[in-house]
Amino acid sequence: MKLADNKATLSFSNGSPSVEMPVYHGSIGPDVIDIRKLYAQTGMFTYDPGFLSTASCQSAITYIDGDKGELLYRGYPIEQLATQCDFMETCHLLLYGNLPDAAGKVDFTKRVTQHTMVNEQMQFFLRGFRRDAHPMAIMTGLVGALSAFYHDSTDINNPEHREISAIRLIAKMPTLVAMAYKYSAGQPYMYPKNALSYSGNFMHMMFANPCEDYAVNPVIERALDRIFILHADHEQNASTSTVRLCGSSGTNPFAAIAAGVACLWGPAHGGANEACLNMLEDIQKMGGVAKVGEFMNQVKDKNSNVKLMGFGHRVYKNYDPRAKLMQETCKEVLGALGLENDPLFKLAMALEKIALEDDYFVQRKLYPNVDFYSGIVQRAIGIPVSLFTAIFALARTVGWIAQLNEMIGDPEYKIGRPRQLFTGSERRDVLPIDKR
Ligand code: ACO
Repeated sequence: MKLADNKATLSFSNGSPSVEMPVYHGSIGPDVIDIRKLYAQTGMFTYDPGFLSTASCQSAITYIDGDKGELLYRGYPIEQLATQCDFMETCHLLLYGNLPDAAGKVDFTKRVTQHTMVNEQMQFFLRGFRRDAHPMAIMTGLVGALSAFYHDSTDINNPEHREISAIRLIAKMPTLVAMAYKYSAGQPYMYPKNALSYSGNFMHMMFANPCEDYAVNPVIERALDRIFILHADHEQNASTSTVRLCGSSGTNPFAAIAAGVACLWGPAHGGANEACLNMLEDIQKMGGVAKVGEFMNQVKDKNSNVKLMGFGHRVYKNYDPRAKLMQETCKEVLGALGLENDPLFKLAMALEKIALEDDYFVQRKLYPNVDFYSGIVQRAIGIPVSLFTAIFALARTVGWIAQLNEMIGDPEYKIGRPRQLFTGSERRDVLPIDKR
């Protein structure tokens, strides 16, 4: 970051001396006011619940321009990455800052595929869960448990440990997600097949069984790969900030990523694709497209607490560029599987059309986000709804690790310790129990 020519001055109406604060430029995007000395100079904190105006770190990984609807990974537009690169190249880009050449890609892919198996003990750990446990509950446990299996890569301050744990996490997440699925379905786990692509191997572990040969459908393989690319990173969102905050205490990378998985589970974040599909299914049960108007009235009614899931975003106040790419993939997958007339897809299109024209949504700049279409694609592929968020976690793992490693390498990094505006009781004395 570069010091700007201008400074910010904070003045007070009560005559307290004003304070000057440095301003920094990034390469693109809004400047920041450096308030680090504010408390020392004034005895006051800033107040910003939900971090609406707070940059919590400097980062060179992902840039979002929410007004333009632009998303760049290391400077490359998401549209180019999604159409010209695959997920392994995207992982390399996010982790190391550059797209690999052909030899670099072969080398990186080989390094990842060497680590796709998990310790055989993991299956016994998994067995402790109920068969009907939510896959995200299982994933939170399994990812955290990795730190109990890979003791040789848990020192977050050792760059070699960070590198090997990054590769292990990227390699093992598909295996763990597929194991969680197979466990719930009561089917045998399928070992990874390293000759397949990253997404092809995931499909094999999910949908193959030991009794018959399984052929990977290239359209679905490409669709999954695109889902992974589109979800790979997204700047300082809630789960990424969770990973950074958790890792800032010096905990091991597996524990920090497990914290990210737990945060992602929420319906306002990664759980939205599951919530969106459940919403579409509920409207379908109510009567489908004919009931869209009635449903929209509920969404607009402040007292109903009903939200149009898959719509709205904290940062995008324009069309989410990932939603456009996902809509394309959605059409391709439904076409390839002969599901063009899928009633849920038609319903989603009807909802989108109405929302894009309705004043309520237009005024609030609420557009479809990536989750609006990703659920329909995953359902068409045969992935159960409850597994959607786990797939998001699989894809986001590389972003979480890239952000965690960037933080550890930043000389300005400190343990994250927000402050508060205290509104509770002032000091008081404990009364004997018979006088309270
Ligand atoms: N449906 C109906 N109204 C909405 C929606 C929605 N999906 N999203 C926001 N609004 C309304 C709010 O009620 C509020 O209205 P008001 O100004 O009259 O009070 C206004 O739009 C602003 O919304 P906020 O909640 O203040 O926006 P915020 O940035 O805090 O929330 C969020 C963003 C959480 C994503 C929200 O839009 C939402 O809950 N969407 C549905 C869940 C979803 O799809 N999440 C996925 C996020 S993307 C991802 O994680 C990959």
